[in-house]
Amino acid sequence: MPQFDETELTAAVIKSFEETPNPRLKFLMSELVRSLHDFVRRTDLTFGEWEQGIDFLTRTGQKCTSSRQEFILLSDVLGVSMLVDAVNHREREGATQTTVLGPFYVGEHKPMPHGTDISANIEGERMFVQSRVTDLAGKPLAGVPVDIWHADDEGFYDSQKPSYETAGPSLRARFITDADGRFFFRTILPCSYPIPIDGPVGELILETRRHPMRPAHVHFLVNAPGYEPLITHVFIEGDKYLDSDVVFGVKDELISKIEVRNDATMPDGQPASGPWHLMTYEFRLKPGKGTAPKPMLPAAEHA
Ligand SMILES: [Fe+2]
Repeated sequence: MPQFDETELTAAVIKSFEETPNPRLKFLMSELVRSLHDFVRRTDLTFGEWEQGIDFLTRTGQKCTSSRQEFILLSDVLGVSMLVDAVNHREREGATQTTVLGPFYVGEHKPMPHGTDISANIEGERMFVQSRVTDLAGKPLAGVPVDIWHADDEGFYDSQKPSYETAGPSLRARFITDADGRFFFRTILPCSYPIPIDGPVGELILETRRHPMRPAHVHFLVNAPGYEPLITHVFIEGDKYLDSDVVFGVKDELISKIEVRNDATMPDGQPASGPWHLMTYEFRLKPGKGTAPKPMLPAAEHA
């Protein structure tokens, strides 16, 4: 009958995976056990703390629904999402930087004509977004689908609202780049927002005296054949949470200066009704392959 001490136990558990046919799974399980056991030894974890951890993870799972992903939120606030992103994008020379997908991506949309107002008449300061997709040498990439999503000026995504199932998407869209790699649309200026704090992740944030805020941003997913899918945000310069994003997602290169304009017409020649903001940002794609992420939440009926 084997009897294990603190150290031998770890080796025995790792050995128990010896017959795993998938070598990657075998490696991941071995390293996971090694790290978990190290954590227990280093912290002298008490029974009470172990129970609390089990309870926390149980409640995190129970908080997940078809329109909410509490585990991604947990991964985000612990910096795991950004770390996975970092180890998978070590070489970005000349390419636009990546950041977290976040929990509010619902998948592809029907392409919209350039210039469309995606705000669905939601109140807010008007913004015109003009952008271009190129390769690393600056050559325009035509016919590239670009998915966009962002929060409203109160900090909520459409999928967080009770009306989502019936009203359909807002502040989400897909545009296809033109022959010059360009696309443009109208929307409202997003604002900084708190991650949902009415669940176990919120408890963790409050208990540890962290703030729950993300600086204002627009999500972009650019997916061109022959290039690595680009998952990123463009952040709004001047936001007071840029230095303390609760999910650690900010990179300097992704911060955009938003110009305030009073011109009577917007860049596509259409009239403006009062002052508006202009966001200009170019995306440079790195050759390669990969598949765009699957949505974590279902699209609304109308998507
Ligand atoms: Fe976001």
